[in-house]
Amino acid sequence: MNLKQTAGERAAEFVENGMTIGLGTGSTVYWTIRQIGLQIEKGLQIRAVPTSEATARLAAELNIPLIDFASTAKLDLTIDGADEINPAFDLIKGGGGALLREKLVAAASKKLIIVADESKLVADLGAFPLPIEVVKFAWETTARRLEEIGLKSVLRKKENEVFVTDNGNYILDCGGGKIVEPATLHQQIKLLTGVVETGIFPAMADMLIIASENGVRIMEKSGAEKIRGENK
Ligand code: 5RP
Repeated sequence: MNLKQTAGERAAEFVENGMTIGLGTGSTVYWTIRQIGLQIEKGLQIRAVPTSEATARLAAELNIPLIDFASTAKLDLTIDGADEINPAFDLIKGGGGALLREKLVAAASKKLIIVADESKLVADLGAFPLPIEVVKFAWETTARRLEEIGLKSVLRKKENEVFVTDNGNYILDCGGGKIVEPATLHQQIKLLTGVVETGIFPAMADMLIIASENGVRIMEKSGAEKIRGENK
């Protein structure tokens, strides 16, 4: 069973006629986008904002109407993947390098649905190296600033070339271990000159669609808010 496919396709059920939606990036939401493409063939009418050039190409192949993000005040829904998800619905994203546009689009959405296989559920964020988008200029200085706050990083490469984001920036992947306070760490990193955005999405997900060999679980944020309250 392809768990990414199961989770991804299930999310398409939440897309309704007339919606303006955000389309995430990655191998799980790929299946959502394909499913939306099939629904469009059957008459579904929506408009979409892609979170990467790769997703824009896929959506165009599937005849999903794309609109300019800048002309859109509010999106009804965004569906995206994640690299790690903790019980409080904090996320690490950016494994595919699209974190900046993903966060911009998610922040403009009334609802963010995250699709994933169960391997993405973790007790604490941080085993997955935290991606941080930084400006190219003097990226080494930014890496040193990160090290000063305890985050050792490596410059992301792809096929031996330095990876450049859709926004023309670099990504530093940081291994710092367990992230106890995701929102606090996110704010701390954002204050560093040279940082454009972090891959921490603090409590940004509203719903999780998680596939495992036992089936699909749909979890609402209200449950996570209860956990957050109990941990205070
Ligand atoms: C891209 C992302 C992806 O959503 C994340 O890496 C998960 O990808 P996949 O669904 O391929 O496992 O954040 O920037």
